[in-house]
Amino acid sequence: MKKFLVFIFLCINDATSNYCYWNTGCPYKYLSTETPYNSVRGDIRDSVIKLIGCEPVSIWGIYRHGKRKPSAMFSEKMKEAISTKKYIIDSYEKGHSSLCAQDIENLRKWEPDYKFYDGVRDIMEEGRQEMIGASKRLKEAFPVLLRDLPKGSYTFRSGQGLWIERSMEAFVSGFGKPSLVIDDVKPNQDVMNPYANCDYYQQNVRNSPKSSAESNRYLTHPEYLAAKDRIHRRSGIEYSLTDENITALYDLCRYDWNAVEYKISPWCAIFTKDDLEVLEYVQDLNHYYRNSYGTPVNEVFGKVPLGDLFTNFESVTKGGGKKIVAYVTHSTMLDQIYMTLGLFKDSVPLTGANRDRDRKWRTSKISTFGVNFVAVLNRCEKQGSKEYNVVFYLNEEPIRSICEEGVCSWENFDTKLRQYVNTTIDFC
Ligand SMILES: *[C@@H]1O[C@H](CO)[C@@H](O)[C@H](O)[C@H]1NC(C)=O
Ligand SMILES: *[C@@H]1O[C@H](CO)[C@@H](O)[C@H](O)[C@H]1NC(C)=O
Repeated sequence: MKKFLVFIFLCINDATSNYCYWNTGCPYKYLSTETPYNSVRGDIRDSVIKLIGCEPVSIWGIYRHGKRKPSAMFSEKMKEAISTKKYIIDSYEKGHSSLCAQDIENLRKWEPDYKFYDGVRDIMEEGRQEMIGASKRLKEAFPVLLRDLPKGSYTFRSGQGLWIERSMEAFVSGFGKPSLVIDDVKPNQDVMNPYANCDYYQQNVRNSPKSSAESNRYLTHPEYLAAKDRIHRRSGIEYSLTDENITALYDLCRYDWNAVEYKISPWCAIFTKDDLEVLEYVQDLNHYYRNSYGTPVNEVFGKVPLGDLFTNFESVTKGGGKKIVAYVTHSTMLDQIYMTLGLFKDSVPLTGANRDRDRKWRTSKISTFGVNFVAVLNRCEKQGSKEYNVVFYLNEEPIRSICEEGVCSWENFDTKLRQYVNTTIDFC
């Protein structure tokens, strides 16, 4: 009880003017796509929907890789931004900063790990732990189905890329069966990344200025400018911060936040909760236009894995199929699947002119490290005959908006997903 009261007290403290980061008790944990999986996940062991007279017979899941190092483009900027530490401490010593003494002390003690900034886009140990945790919990939630996994009863495959492939290895190792074999990566395109080698997508969406037009527009919004000004004054930095500098500082805060142990970064102390919400929205806009609702073609890509899901479950109902199919890919794919299914869709499109605080599209919850979309096929005995249903999960919590109460009858599932089988993306 005493602990509980202390917690409440610290959370109230959050709202006062002399806010310190180190003891806030409830730091803002939504860091867009670099949010640790543990900050947003449920637990499939607690939330698995158990239906009377039914048993789970197949699982299909698609996962974003775990925490990885940033690409060279971002890590170079982060490395430069480390020099900001000296400015912040100098300003504090001159009395020009409103940071708290302990926050300054923590920043002073902070030392960079230069290996982190080498630009090799590899998974981090924290990311491996995120993936291992996900498969261990899955195994515990479905002990009978996943107890034996003989050859041919499973498919584990990832998209191409060091950190993606190593995330898959970590995921598979969480099952604790060294004999499990991961399929070879398909070099061109596969069901978990049909957009990857699609020239049309790369040219007209991914690398098109249109995709960042709204996030750039938001960088001129009074709300963004106010956040920038606050960061400036709070940290007491005397030179003027560019948008690039802000992004690099935000990245230092996000990457240095330990994804496995609940350990916050002293770099986050230069931001208030309001600032972090504003920076989160910049990322939400990027993902919305690059990967999802903001650009119509994204809907087509999402059909490809969903068609694969349907085909897999249909074969199980016909006596074949796999016990488990799991893929590892990028957040792009998850964002596209949401669009195809109409999930997290706001009635008013997101723009740089207005930030809806109650929006459904929140990368911090749907495009985080290790984010996953999992479907479970159940077989039920009803008056002597067999029936099937499907339950969907996002980050280990049932998705209730797809079907009533989160359980789709086979007919419902068939109506929604059969249409995606044989999806062609010949415009690529
Ligand atoms: C701030 O950003 C500018 C470019 O926008 C860059 O040249 C400079 O090195 C950055 N400074 C720090 C400390 O990151
Ligand atoms: C998909 O293509 C296969 C092979 O051409 C065909 O047998 C099947 O009926 C098609 N499925 C749908 C749902 O169109």
